[in-house]
Amino acid sequence: MSVRAVLRMGHPLLNQVAAEIAPDDPVLPGLVADLRDTMLACGGMGLAAPQIGVSVRVVVFGTGAVNPRYPEQAPIPFTVLVNPVITPLGEAMESAWEGCLSLPGLRGRVARCCRIHYRAWNEHGEPVNGEAEGFHARVIQHECDHLNGVLYSQRMDDLRQFGFIEELEQAGRIAPVPS
Ligand code: NI
Repeated sequence: MSVRAVLRMGHPLLNQVAAEIAPDDPVLPGLVADLRDTMLACGGMGLAAPQIGVSVRVVVFGTGAVNPRYPEQAPIPFTVLVNPVITPLGEAMESAWEGCLSLPGLRGRVARCCRIHYRAWNEHGEPVNGEAEGFHARVIQHECDHLNGVLYSQRMDDLRQFGFIEELEQAGRIAPVPS
């Protein structure tokens, strides 16, 4: 399909609650292909439909390979979630640096639930559910936040932990990120 432009923070669509979409909606295969192509072209870890200007509840994440932007993290298989619902498992939270294709050049430290359960539909219109923890759980929470109009910067409780990648790298606060 095609690589689409990624909206950046400030575009009002990124702050809207996205609409549910029928898992057999005929627009879904093309939308998923565009999300995947755009995520791969941008070197992203995940992408939500509102980020390409389509305000529906669809996210994709994972490439099945180690992402050079997050080299210390285990690969996550390519996954499509339609109308996802996530539930925290336990009280435990952990903080880590996050990036987002809608906030290019920036990273911020965000607390997320360590473990979650998710249920959704996949790109074939089949129900899926499972549990995720650590970085995998973080990616799912980040992408699903996009469907509720929430960017990671809105989740931050200490804006001193928010900055430009180059500055954070030079200060040794994050590992070098390939550009
Ligand atoms: Ni994002």
